[in-house]
Amino acid sequence: MPAFMEPFRIKAVEPIPFPSAAEREAALIEAGYNIFQIPARLITIDMLTDSGTSAMSAAQWSALFSGDESYAGARSFERFEAVVRELTGYPEVIPVHQGRAAERIVLHQLLRAGDVSVSNTHFDSTRASVEAAGAFALDLPVEYDDTTSFGGDIDIDRLERLLAGDTGAPVRCVVLTVTNNANGGQPVSIGNAHAVRRLCDEHGIPFLLDASRFAENAYLVSTRSPDVAGRTPREIAREIFGFADGCWASLKKDGIGNIGGLIALRDAALAKRCRAKVIETEGFPTYGGLAGRDLDALAQGLLEVTEVDYLRYRAESARWFADALAQAGLPVLRPTGCHAVYVDAGQLLPHIPPQRLPATALVNELYRVGAVRTTELGTLVFGRPGADGSPGTSAPRELVRFAMPRRVYTVSHLQYVAEIAERVVAKAADLRGYRIVDQDDVMRQFTATLQPVE
Ligand code: F0G
Repeated sequence: MPAFMEPFRIKAVEPIPFPSAAEREAALIEAGYNIFQIPARLITIDMLTDSGTSAMSAAQWSALFSGDESYAGARSFERFEAVVRELTGYPEVIPVHQGRAAERIVLHQLLRAGDVSVSNTHFDSTRASVEAAGAFALDLPVEYDDTTSFGGDIDIDRLERLLAGDTGAPVRCVVLTVTNNANGGQPVSIGNAHAVRRLCDEHGIPFLLDASRFAENAYLVSTRSPDVAGRTPREIAREIFGFADGCWASLKKDGIGNIGGLIALRDAALAKRCRAKVIETEGFPTYGGLAGRDLDALAQGLLEVTEVDYLRYRAESARWFADALAQAGLPVLRPTGCHAVYVDAGQLLPHIPPQRLPATALVNELYRVGAVRTTELGTLVFGRPGADGSPGTSAPRELVRFAMPRRVYTVSHLQYVAEIAERVVAKAADLRGYRIVDQDDVMRQFTATLQPVE
């Protein structure tokens, strides 16, 4: 059996659209050349995100039906709580409607204006929560290349120096994002989580996980660490949870749910403060903005997501897809993680300077040629507008992410995307950049309007 073969068969299907060339061109113009503004009915293969886009299993659909919609203390909550406790080892479990609600609630308990949050890399919504508290988000990722096993780690030497030195900026928490989505989806090692624990103990600082892709992280650890031979991804995940004081997660990823998030903590006093906030913004703390049936489907998803056959297929299909894109001529980042394949558009399009958004140029061309939707993770996302007409800052790398929704696309869908990529590569030298016509201050990639430059 090929390792990437889907370990499931398909029970319900959904037709996918095939817009014509004229419809694709009109959609780009109508969207202001911003891929987020194109309606899904005009997308053939949607690799914008792996978040909330998963296919649920028959067992999850059945679980929906046993949802208990009681306002307080529903049986669905008890099932969810039991699964999360067993998985993480944290006694305090609070559901919320999605990851960013969890981040905001926890971080606003820990941070005050002028404080510092340190991470391997804050995901962009996490960074926005830190900054909304008036605090500063500092990223200390390790440098990595295609031979690095754990490119998601935090740079322990720099963290140690930061905590030991007198920077004047009080560090109030350390956050490990597993896997490190904003830095290539690379995994975090057990040793790195252990080292963070030690430093946080020395300095009395809370250590939290953004565990949105905890199962994929654990699987990648199981394949890249010789010292964990024979241990299951669930056991490895449990060990990593064990080092931290708690976590938050978007369950739209490794919860295999279409909506949902959680906060899980050891500290009962902190959990009490978080629950008070949940009541204010999400709902009663046993449902946290979700329906009872969502909690049941998520509880089942959290069991399925650590199955070895599923995780092997997930990692191997990403690897197969990375090879196919590389063969098509795209500069692919290695090693491949699980949830996405990242491509360096700066390398493919050296004639387009960062301020002219080469990653956006690649994203838009993949749409124009084949109605394939990907995400730009380049200057549009990570750059900042300049003041008074100056060019502004650019991203360290011009990446494009091909995200892989869970259990949704088969190998022939991936093959189609690789064929579209090959056609885009063939005309790479002719692609032009973009300028931003209109943008918002926060997360401008969602709403910006663009124009091709001549
Ligand atoms: N943390 C990480 C690591 C994430 O990747 C995301 C979302 C969040 C937190 C926020 O969770 O969307 O449920 O509010 N990432 C999505 C993505 C949007 O496309 O990578 P949310």
